[in-house]
Amino acid sequence: MSTLDIVLLLLLLPFADAEPWPLCGNGGNYTANSSYQSNLNQLSAVLPKKASSNRNLFATGTAGTTPDEVYALALCRGDINASACNDCVAAGFQDAQQLCPFSKEATMYYDVCLLSFSSIDFLSTTSSNDSGDILLIWNSQNFTESSASISLLLFTLLNDTALSAVNSSRRFTTARMDISSLPTMYCVVQCTPDLTAGECAACLQDFPQLTLMYLDGRRGGRVLRVRCNMRYEIYPFYQGDPMLRIISLATAVPGAPPPPTASPATSTVGLAKLACFVPLPALVHTASFALESSCSRLAFNSGDKGLQDKAVVNTRVEENALVWRIEEKSSEFTLFDLSQLLKATENFSEGNRLGQGGFGPVYKGQLSDGQEIAVKRLASHSGQGFTEFRNEVELIAKLQHTNLVRLLGCCIEGDEKVLVYEYMSNKSLDFFIFDESQSSLLSWNKRREIVEGIAQGLLYLHKHSRLRIVHRDLKASNILLDQDMNPKISDFGLARIFGSNDTEGNTKRVVGTYGYMSPEYASEGIYSVKSDVFSFGVLLLEILSGKRNSGFYQFGDFLNLLGYTWHLWEEGRWLELVEASISMEMHAAEARRYTYIALMCVQENADDRPTMSDIVAALNSESVVLPQPKHPAYFNLRVSKAEESTTAVERYSLNEVTITQDPEGR
Ligand SMILES: *[C@@H]1O[C@H](CO)[C@@H](O)[C@H](O)[C@H]1NC(C)=O
Ligand SMILES: *[C@@H]1O[C@H](CO)[C@@H](O)[C@H](O)[C@H]1NC(C)=O
Ligand SMILES: *[C@@H]1O[C@H](CO)[C@@H](O)[C@H](O)[C@H]1NC(C)=O
Ligand SMILES: *[C@@H]1O[C@H](CO)[C@@H](O)[C@H](O)[C@H]1NC(C)=O
Ligand SMILES: *[C@@H]1O[C@H](CO)[C@@H](O)[C@H](O)[C@H]1NC(C)=O
Ligand SMILES: *[C@@H]1O[C@H](CO)[C@@H](O)[C@H](O)[C@H]1NC(C)=O
Ligand SMILES: *[C@@H]1O[C@H](CO)[C@@H](O)[C@H](O)[C@H]1NC(C)=O
Ligand SMILES: *[C@@H]1O[C@H](CO)[C@@H](O)[C@H](O)[C@H]1NC(C)=O
Ligand SMILES: *[C@@H]1O[C@H](CO)[C@@H](O)[C@H](O)[C@H]1NC(C)=O
Ligand SMILES: *[C@@H]1O[C@H](CO)[C@@H](O)[C@H](O)[C@H]1NC(C)=O
Repeated sequence: MSTLDIVLLLLLLPFADAEPWPLCGNGGNYTANSSYQSNLNQLSAVLPKKASSNRNLFATGTAGTTPDEVYALALCRGDINASACNDCVAAGFQDAQQLCPFSKEATMYYDVCLLSFSSIDFLSTTSSNDSGDILLIWNSQNFTESSASISLLLFTLLNDTALSAVNSSRRFTTARMDISSLPTMYCVVQCTPDLTAGECAACLQDFPQLTLMYLDGRRGGRVLRVRCNMRYEIYPFYQGDPMLRIISLATAVPGAPPPPTASPATSTVGLAKLACFVPLPALVHTASFALESSCSRLAFNSGDKGLQDKAVVNTRVEENALVWRIEEKSSEFTLFDLSQLLKATENFSEGNRLGQGGFGPVYKGQLSDGQEIAVKRLASHSGQGFTEFRNEVELIAKLQHTNLVRLLGCCIEGDEKVLVYEYMSNKSLDFFIFDESQSSLLSWNKRREIVEGIAQGLLYLHKHSRLRIVHRDLKASNILLDQDMNPKISDFGLARIFGSNDTEGNTKRVVGTYGYMSPEYASEGIYSVKSDVFSFGVLLLEILSGKRNSGFYQFGDFLNLLGYTWHLWEEGRWLELVEASISMEMHAAEARRYTYIALMCVQENADDRPTMSDIVAALNSESVVLPQPKHPAYFNLRVSKAEESTTAVERYSLNEVTITQDPEGR
């Protein structure tokens, strides 16, 4: 078994981009004009082209026969172009002759490629178990922020990038991590593409540990091996958009003012040719180092306190990995910067405010590319930690249906949690149906389409999406209208963020709007798809009648819309329910059918209510034979106008029907 060596390069001298870090190896020397040399020359003529023309910018090659056979490997960083790759590998052969003269074995590391050759066949095994040195390079500048949060973030960045690289077909990932109060970090992880995912993972296995031990706190660093490598910096050093985006909420403790930093081009990353080969019997797992002034005096002992500190960092990462990973290629979801949204909404100005939703105010905004957006700034307490919030939003972002408002992205920075939706130009349904001057703009035909659209959207939430979302706050003001007056349900899934995350059940925290809440939900916190069906029934009656269920509307002797409708139904006077501006368009039979469907939905007993698929079927068929509806819930209760907006209430006990308003008064 060969030993793994770690080469520590102390960085002292200025360093130019195109200069290599050579590791000359100790495999002996060849002589001038030997066949080893000519074999090497042969490889130098073909390998650059071979690597640069390969899709993965990777090549291996051999030349000659034993004992003069030469084995070589070249790998370019996945983001560079063929000509840059060719040049870099070619330079590797040249520089090796200068920097490792006559050495049979050498590895040249550059910013954008690596070249390794040897007289020993290191190509036949892709298991990096025992092959080769590990080279660590770090920036001499340190972060000035608290080191604990840096360690955590660095570890997470590296681990996530590595996982993604392992899982990718090219074994290559570029990543970017945005952190509230720290510089953005950029990272690249790459394995040679001939490794299996498992071999790549094995090769990278010790990287997080090595990073914590040697690169922690440094503003840039690299861990380099022949078969895998990692680099991170606080400036973008790779080309193109990151393949993986990570955001973090962690806030760093500011330290001393940052020292003047050199620009990347004249980076103070320095190099001293001070390679120290440190035998590491059991690598970092049991050994820890104390780096002393001279690298020849590297000492290690297994009881070192340093290691324990690192171990603590390690477990903390598992507990609060406050990061959000978005693989850009697989998602139309955007992580916005807060500054972007502040600009788009003129700092959340009153003039841009569209309204107050149940979960926070909504603003109109315009992104720099001109796209109009609606920005919902969530009330600060969602009862959720970052991780749950992230999971919920990612789930909600996956829901796509023509009758659901599309979630374009979000932003989470410090205490701010903001959701970004597509902008709907025609406001919400309540603006039209409850306003006498506007209601004539919505013909019965249009209303029928709107009802069908809402039903389709709800059906999707209930059935067709893998998630099975219960909206829990369906109401006229949550039905937005696009430029063609198509309805789009908004705020779906927010109940999950602000309440419990099971899809059916009993929650202590009731989120909803009086007048639309089913009795079992309002009083006992029991919710299911049938609670949404109840709200749909109320909404349907409101669309037909142009009257709010809640509030001081006149319903004759009746206290609310449900009781009033029930009365008309029992007397066969269903057409009287319908608002004047549309009643001319409607046949009595149609009025009867829609009233009937609504009454089926608002029955007291959840089991008696139809499902959304029953409703969609009933809306689409002229003759439905369904049982007679039972009398609706609340038909003899007044629904107070004061409670029209979404209210989150805590239920204190199952038996006690006391409903206490949320302290925030939402
Ligand atoms: C190989 O050559 C280098 C430079 O020419 C020399 O310093 C080194 O001692 C030689 N190594 C062996 C094993 O002969
Ligand atoms: C190697 O070959 C070149 C010309 O091909 C010659 O000039 C040189 O002297 C040779 N060197 C050795 C050590 O044989
Ligand atoms: C390749 O990349 C290099 C460095 O980024 C750039 O200077 C060069 O123009 C690129 N060449 C081509 C053909 O795109
Ligand atoms: C990996 O190394 C261990 C010892 O370090 C050895 O037992 C094992 O056989 C090696 N595996 C491979 C695939 O080389
Ligand atoms: C960075 O931190 C290391 C150890 O934590 C220290 O030895 C080094 O001097 C620091 N460098 C700078 C430029 O402060
Ligand atoms: C990286 O994270 C994954 C899960 O997120 C975990 O299973 C793995 O152990 C981590 N890697 C290290 C080196 O801790
Ligand atoms: C790996 O990739 C597959 C598809 O390419 C994806 O389904 C899976 O979630 C990925 N796993 C991880 C850990 O990223
Ligand atoms: C938003 O706030 C920033 C900083 O507070 C200020 O510079 C900017 O002018 C403001 N923009 C608008 C449109 O009010
Ligand atoms: C809906 O919006 C479009 C485009 O903004 C507008 O042309 C149309 O008049 C609006 N319809 C109503 C009924 O306001
Ligand atoms: C969501 O569900 C998980 C397990 O199903 C639970 O641990 C977590 O506390 C729940 N979150 C909320 C906010 O209810």
